[in-house]
This record gives sequence, C-alpha cells and structure tokens, in this order.
Amino acid sequence: MVQGYVNLNTEKNKQWLQEYVDNWVTFFKKQTDTGKVADYIPKLEEADPDALGITIIGKGGMQIRSGDLNHSFSIQSISKVLSFIVACIDRGITYILQRVDVEPTGEAFNSIMHLQINNPKRPFNPLVNSGAITVSSLLNGNTSDEKLEPLFNLMEKIIGYRPEIDVDVYVSERDTSMRNRAIGYYLLEEGYLESDLGVTLETYFKQCSINITTDDLARIGLVLSNDGIHPDTEEIIIPKNVARIAKSLMLTCGMYDASGKFASYVGIPAKSGVSGGILAVVPPRVRNNDLPFLDGCGIGVFGPALDKQGNSVAGIKLLRHIANSWDMSVF
Ligand code: DON
Repeated sequence: MVQGYVNLNTEKNKQWLQEYVDNWVTFFKKQTDTGKVADYIPKLEEADPDALGITIIGKGGMQIRSGDLNHSFSIQSISKVLSFIVACIDRGITYILQRVDVEPTGEAFNSIMHLQINNPKRPFNPLVNSGAITVSSLLNGNTSDEKLEPLFNLMEKIIGYRPEIDVDVYVSERDTSMRNRAIGYYLLEEGYLESDLGVTLETYFKQCSINITTDDLARIGLVLSNDGIHPDTEEIIIPKNVARIAKSLMLTCGMYDASGKFASYVGIPAKSGVSGGILAVVPPRVRNNDLPFLDGCGIGVFGPALDKQGNSVAGIKLLRHIANSWDMSVF
C-alpha cells in the first residue's frame, strides 16, 4: 500500500465512486450516435449501436460496473495481445521478436502498405493484422485448435472459466475476410509465415471470435497491471518481461492509427477491437493523495459504435474522462 494512501476500497467510498461512473456512462452513452457499428463482418452489424458498458476491477476486490453489462461480444483484435503473450511464453521472447517487430505503423489495422513500401525483415508489430496473423502462424501446433489451446488455458486462468468461440461470428468473419486472406498471401509470399496459410488464418479468425464480457476484459487488465501475477492467487500467469512488452505494445500500437492521441489524452495501455471492446490497463501509481485504484486496475469497456479508426467512440471518451478525473495516465 502506498504511504499516505486513503483507502477507497470501502463500501462507503464504493457507493460514491459508483455514482460518478454511472453518471459518466449516462453522459457518454449519448456520444454513441457519433459512431457506427462495424459492418465489414456481417454478424457484427447486429450489435446494439447505443450500448455502453464498463467494468473496473482493482486489487483487493474493489469493482465498479456500470452501463450495459448484459452483453457478451467477440474479443476481435484484443485477442492479438493474448496470442502475442502465449507465443512469447511458449517460444521465447527473442524468437518471437525476431519474427515480429515492436514498431507502430500509424496506419489502419488491416493495411499492408507499410510492409510493401519498407519491405522489412518482419511485420511491424503484433497488433496490426499482418503481425497478428504472423503470430498465429508462430503458435505451437498443427491445427487451429492445437494452436489456440494455450490461449484458452491462459484466459481460463485469468477469467475463471473457459471462454467459447462464437461460431456465427467465426463463420461470418471467415466467409467475408478477403482483406485478411490477401494479407495472408502477401505474408506467405514474403516468407513471414511458419505454418500452413489455411491453418494460420483459421487460427486468427477463431481467436478473434472468442466471446467475452467487460468483466473478463477488466480481469485480464488487472493481471497485466499486476505484472502478470493473479491478484487473488498470487500465481504468475504471465512472466513480468512478457507482460511489460505487451503493455508497451498496447500503449504504442493498441489503438491503431489513433494510438498517439490515446497515449497523449488518456495515457494508459489499451487495446481495442472492432466489436467495440477495449481492454485497458492502469498500472499502480505513486501519489500522495486520495485517488481511487492507486494500486492499479483493469478496465473493460464495451461500446460497439466505432470511430473511423475502428475504436469504440463513446468508450474512448469515457476512458479519457475517467483517466483524467482519477489521474491514471502513466506519464
Ligand atoms: O481482422 C479483422 O478484421 C478482425 N477480426 C479484427 C479486427 C479488429 O478488431 C481491429 N480493431 N480495431
């Protein structure tokens, strides 16, 4: 516990923090009409464009949940953080980073322009599609199910149950993903892939279709905030050096071509997905004042109306407001 820290993890304080967050969610819910639900994967178009929900979980059981919480949704690009972590754990950081770099592209998530222009030895980072598909090819296993087994195991350890693939989303994505197939063929041509292209793409589509909730995202965020250690069991789920690289990637590349703005105005590692989810990690801060969640927390957001970059439009505004109100920026 930080010296001078006024413990806000009490029921009385929880009530007024809850009221604040409820008011903020109600306010930012109005902003959902400035965005648009993803439609390039037909199944995602069915999401409620007005939905906005958030879960914040701190150490010691402090939880705030607000808004539309009765939604589960596909994890989409947020899975890229987890597949990168699993690949590093199973194959070693050096092996993975020799095959995928850690540099932002400043371009759309599904672009390969930067690869074609620069012709680098490896894709720019694991959080754009070219890097993520390459990581899917680096996962151990000959089939997509074998490759995803460690990812499911990691998630189960963190969220407390084994998540499932939303088969409708998987089929919808698989049958419409012309761009990802094009990226896959380009990666194959350039020699970046280590597994069969069909298996690699199937792995990528399946990992994007895993069903989760804002609670699950907050729990994943809390473990990352706690340097990979489960806050309840003290088990090391993710080695500290892997968690550290994952968080730095989230901060520099996690919100795609809006990552710089998000780092400047919100200032916490985060990763978005086109179904409207955001995974955010608030590391512990050292402050001599009365702020909630000083020991760090994980935040999960769901708001399917997206901005031009594919990030939840109201979710980003809500996170920005919370991070500024509670001084959560890492800078
Ligand atoms: O590759 C795709 O098209 C999706 N399955 C994942 C993209 C995604 O979530 C991008 N996020 N903002």
